[in-house]
Amino acid sequence: MTIYKSACILFVIMCIPILLNAQSNKDESFILGCGLGENGGKDSDGRQWNPDNKYVSGGNSVTAKASFQDPSLLSEVPYMTARIFTSETTYKLPIQPDKRYWLRLHFYPSVYNNFNPVDSYFSVTANGVTLLNNFSSYITCQALSQAYIDREYSLSPLNSDVLELKFKPSDKHNGAFAFVNGIQLIQMPDLLFDSPSLVGYPDQTVDAKSMHMQTMFRLNVGGQYIPPVQDSGLSRTWYDDTPYIFGAAVGVTNQAEKNVTIDYQAMPKYIAPADVYSTSRSMGTNKDVNMGFNLTWVFQVDPNSMYLTRLHFCDYHYLQSNEIVFSIFVNNQTAQDQADVIGWTGRQGATTYKDYVVYVHEEAGDDQLWLALHPNPTTKPRFYDAMLNGVEIFKLNDTDLSGPNPQPSDMMMEYEARIRNFEDKNGHSRSFAIGGAAGGAAGFALVAAICIAVHQRKKRTPGSYTNSTSSWLPLYGSHTTGTKSTSGKSTMGSGANLAMAQGLCRYFSLQEMRHATNNFEESNVIGVGGFGKVYKGVIDNGFKVAIKRSNPQSEQGVNEFQTEIEMLSKLRHKHLVSLIGFCEEGEEMCLVYDYMAHGTMREHLYKGNKPIDTLSWKQRLEICIGAARGLHYLHTGAKYTIIHRDVKTTNILLDENFVAKVSDFGLSKTGPDMNQGHVSTVVKGSFGYLDPEYFRRQQLTEKSDVYSFGVVLFEALCSRPALNPSLPKEQVSLADWALMNKRKGTLEDIIDPNLKGKIKPESLNKFADTAEKCLSDSGLDRPSMNDLLWNLEFALNLQENDGTSSSTHNNSAHIDESDFEEVNLNQRNDMAAHYKNLSLGSEHDLSHDSAGNSSAIFSQIGNPKGR
Ligand SMILES: *[C@@H]1O[C@H](CO)[C@@H](O)[C@H](O)[C@H]1NC(C)=O
Ligand SMILES: *[C@@H]1O[C@H](CO)[C@@H](O)[C@H](O)[C@H]1NC(C)=O
Ligand SMILES: *[C@@H]1O[C@H](CO)[C@@H](O)[C@H](O)[C@H]1NC(C)=O
Ligand SMILES: *[C@@H]1O[C@H](CO)[C@@H](O)[C@H](O)[C@H]1NC(C)=O
Ligand SMILES: *[C@@H]1O[C@H](CO)[C@@H](O)[C@H](O)[C@H]1NC(C)=O
Ligand SMILES: *[C@@H]1O[C@H](CO)[C@@H](O)[C@H](O)[C@H]1NC(C)=O
Ligand SMILES: *[C@@H]1O[C@H](CO)[C@@H](O)[C@H](O)[C@H]1NC(C)=O
Ligand SMILES: *[C@@H]1O[C@H](CO)[C@@H](O)[C@H](O)[C@H]1NC(C)=O
Ligand SMILES: *[C@@H]1O[C@H](CO)[C@@H](O)[C@H](O)[C@H]1NC(C)=O
Repeated sequence: MTIYKSACILFVIMCIPILLNAQSNKDESFILGCGLGENGGKDSDGRQWNPDNKYVSGGNSVTAKASFQDPSLLSEVPYMTARIFTSETTYKLPIQPDKRYWLRLHFYPSVYNNFNPVDSYFSVTANGVTLLNNFSSYITCQALSQAYIDREYSLSPLNSDVLELKFKPSDKHNGAFAFVNGIQLIQMPDLLFDSPSLVGYPDQTVDAKSMHMQTMFRLNVGGQYIPPVQDSGLSRTWYDDTPYIFGAAVGVTNQAEKNVTIDYQAMPKYIAPADVYSTSRSMGTNKDVNMGFNLTWVFQVDPNSMYLTRLHFCDYHYLQSNEIVFSIFVNNQTAQDQADVIGWTGRQGATTYKDYVVYVHEEAGDDQLWLALHPNPTTKPRFYDAMLNGVEIFKLNDTDLSGPNPQPSDMMMEYEARIRNFEDKNGHSRSFAIGGAAGGAAGFALVAAICIAVHQRKKRTPGSYTNSTSSWLPLYGSHTTGTKSTSGKSTMGSGANLAMAQGLCRYFSLQEMRHATNNFEESNVIGVGGFGKVYKGVIDNGFKVAIKRSNPQSEQGVNEFQTEIEMLSKLRHKHLVSLIGFCEEGEEMCLVYDYMAHGTMREHLYKGNKPIDTLSWKQRLEICIGAARGLHYLHTGAKYTIIHRDVKTTNILLDENFVAKVSDFGLSKTGPDMNQGHVSTVVKGSFGYLDPEYFRRQQLTEKSDVYSFGVVLFEALCSRPALNPSLPKEQVSLADWALMNKRKGTLEDIIDPNLKGKIKPESLNKFADTAEKCLSDSGLDRPSMNDLLWNLEFALNLQENDGTSSSTHNNSAHIDESDFEEVNLNQRNDMAAHYKNLSLGSEHDLSHDSAGNSSAIFSQIGNPKGR
């Protein structure tokens, strides 16, 4: 009985705060869906939005429904209904005079009845504080390439018990009207506890506490989008930081181990959710590379204003102070000379934040706020690195937070027009699944949309080169969600934003391409492929890239270009070459890739027809394993089976650590799903590597890649070209020659002399057996990429372990999870600077080998029964 009773009391006690809370929330927050009917509505997060009509007073206003629902709208409520004001109108909302409030305004510039958002210019004031002036949500959304915009303000105590929120159509534009879709007014706790100092004037503090603020940016650095419902109690939205990173040096992202608890110590939890503190971005593992660059974010802001930059830190990895010490620069001024996170917090996993205030003046080009981190070696820290977990940027002012409308870039307008054109032509709106598109000009428009990542700050004048680098589109207020797009309703709108926010693909102007390659100077050509020439280039002041430029005459080139962007922007794997971005202007098309320091696998095996001794057997095995992983991913890891169709040693590139990466997806085809078990098409690929079955039947399966890979394996073993027409007839084709020797037991005679005596017999046998199986005449007899991988790993194991212990890998369980991390994307900084050579694309290698003897090759190919 007593237990029952006390449980009852406990229950009541526990309920009191909940009831109180609910009560106080009811009094103090207003979540208004403007134009909603009397029952209001729920948004996609399940939050209730109430009708606004009770609070409107004076003026002329009507409610209306949007004529079109953009598929990128995450929720119908509150965006699909609006209140439209044709004269000055005020909302009156009760508040407490001494409390700070969030005020959030939501705008979706669609056509409402006869109201076209193009004509909407208006101002909004809150008890005399100007929030917006001459505001065009249409222009703002267009410039940011998003369907709607949310504005968030934090109003300091207004000394009044009513908030008067005034909407006033501009009198400078004929027929101007004002509108709003949603209003949130929520009492908030203090976020500012100390007076932050002014960057550059360390002894000057700013009384930010008494100021009104507008949230400009709020980013979960190195982490994911956090929707309002997952915030730590203040219904804030946190975005991914990738779009704001300057240049290609994106550093690496990290995540706290599961066993580390995020410890707020004395800090209130509402400062930022644990998700923000448990992910971070740092520079990378290479000390020399880190010393050579700044990890930099660039934000577009309104000039002539003061900004509070709040940086969130939590070091969940290291244990002691002086392990990582770095400098923080805000707008190129030192904000913090020696930041040492553990030094500040005293322990692993503890959170902290730092506030810096900076004034952005109106000078040429000064509409940006730069945040940069750089290791500071002064105190001899253990690692030369820097890190950041989260960032918020607020604009501060007492009276006026408004700014000018942004200017959409020419390029953005062009793309908008292109997309619209595409939609009109195809008679449907932006509701494509990303996965489904294939080829054709329309396909390109779609891809372009996926990749729109443009913010052209400087006006481009035709024919002139600028030194400016295109920064990422400032996406503040966009709606990229990792969670929503997996719900199966992936649309182009959100897909585009997702791709952008993840930094999957970047758009370059032709000028940038010209500038990178010294106007496509011949001396920068590092390869020639079917698609056109490949140039080496430098972007972002020193980051090396490989640029494939299309040959405008080649129709095939256009299709390959589309295929490659489409495939690569969706595929991320440690053993696939990453696409950084593309350029498409008029006739010109370029693809921009990571620069691979060590060039092709082939150039480390032989030169001309002579073996060269640069790679040990172990290295060769590791390269083969890496390439096999890349191909395995293509065959099984992506949504569709992807058949590479042109596997060869010139399409396997090596980075500075000799990590193999498969490149050149120009011929790739998505496989079996399309065509009952095979893809029939014109035979493509490279002589010497062509699957005879494919050649005979014109049916492509992933086993064709396995065949070609078998040739690669023998190339690695024998260090000779797949085809060498200068040899006696039976030796011309490596595949035939190697198989013949393997069967006769004389393989040892033809292996690279540099390897003789250095390969353990067990390893050689395993390897050669595997390669032989790959070259089986029938695809069914060839191993899958998975079996192949296992066998190669086994061969490596046999080489390394004296053949005594056997592989610990299981035949199904050796897909290295780490391959799927964003390694490619995030270690680009490691690739800055120290590169020598690279080659991509390689048709010309073949013509080089076979000069004058193509007839021999053709007869070889035409008669695949040779073995
Ligand atoms: C967490 O686990 C990792 C290995 O998974 C270990 O190295 C580390 O010491 C652990 N940290 C704590 C705080 O237990
Ligand atoms: C506040 O805004 C006004 C008008 O834009 C501007 O002149 C003033 O410099 C701003 N004050 C601060 C502290 O940023
Ligand atoms: C900071 O310096 C970079 C070059 O180092 C320059 O491009 C940028 O405009 C500067 N930013 C500001 C706000 O001064
Ligand atoms: C990093 O930024 C600071 C401040 O703008 C600048 O002085 C420094 O030269 C930069 N360092 C590098 C390596 O770019
Ligand atoms: C209002 O904004 C538009 C678009 O940015 C601009 O063209 C116009 O000059 C502005 N009008 C005023 C009065 O500032
Ligand atoms: C680009 O910058 C370099 C050095 O920063 C300068 O020498 C060159 O003239 C600039 N080019 C243009 C077109 O501005
Ligand atoms: C490896 O595979 C064998 C059978 O194939 C299985 O019994 C064993 O549990 C597997 N081991 C691991 C670590 O998965
Ligand atoms: C890179 O190319 C240059 C000339 O093009 C050559 O001298 C050099 O040896 C090459 N380096 C490597 C690592 O292949
Ligand atoms: C082409 O092959 C023939 C034998 O098939 C040989 O006599 C001739 O020298 C070769 N030509 C070249 C350019 O290698």
